[in-house]
Amino acid sequence: MRKELLTRESADLVGLFDCGEEPYAIEVSDWIKGTGGDVWLAIRGGAEVWLYLSESEELIGFGALYPQRIHLEGSDRPLGELLTIAYFGIAKAFRKKPDGPYQNYYSRQILHDLIQQAKKHPSNPNRLALYVNPNNVGAIRLYSDPEFQFVKVGTFDGDDCMVKIF
Ligand SMILES: CC(C)(COP(=O)(O)OP(=O)(O)OC[C@H]1O[C@@H](n2cnc3c(N)ncnc32)[C@H](O)[C@@H]1OP(=O)(O)O)[C@@H](O)C(=O)NCCC(=O)NCCS
Repeated sequence: MRKELLTRESADLVGLFDCGEEPYAIEVSDWIKGTGGDVWLAIRGGAEVWLYLSESEELIGFGALYPQRIHLEGSDRPLGELLTIAYFGIAKAFRKKPDGPYQNYYSRQILHDLIQQAKKHPSNPNRLALYVNPNNVGAIRLYSDPEFQFVKVGTFDGDDCMVKIF
């Protein structure tokens, strides 16, 4: 697997990206394909969208690191600007792959790499946050895994906000 940043030049790589049928999966696929144009706005706003590719240049998955201002519902104390994994998805064909122990799945390899990227991010964060739909039990189990240790700190717009401290 190799990785590169999404740019206008590499945009062809994401054209057919499909990470599943669940509403939250469709949102992720639509975002990276630029259906609403938000991906380019996010990149202009400082997002790094990392593409992870197979040897045959298929898009296995991607993750977007994006500094965002976080305000949890019901809290009068904003968390302030935090580095987030704003979007994260594994293409359907690569979910629960490669064959073998789940600890080595692409989902985990990519999440691990995003965390390493986050640690080196110019914003010099000591925390990394993400939002996840509370029905997305697979993603929540992945983020809460002892290897990754994201912890729910509240909700925002119906999503669980989870934070990992470095
Ligand atoms: C969320 C996503 C990245 C997870 O990747 P994945 O390859 O599908 O799945 P995981 O790496 O979590 O592996 C799941 C499998 O690993 C195994 N597994 C994972 N954790 C396990 C554990 N603690 N114990 C035993 N088995 C485990 C199981 O076989 C599990 O399959 P199951 O869910 O059918 O039980 C991927 O499903 C995806 O892209 N989804 C759509 C987009 C999305 O939801 N993004 C997140 C938005 S915040």
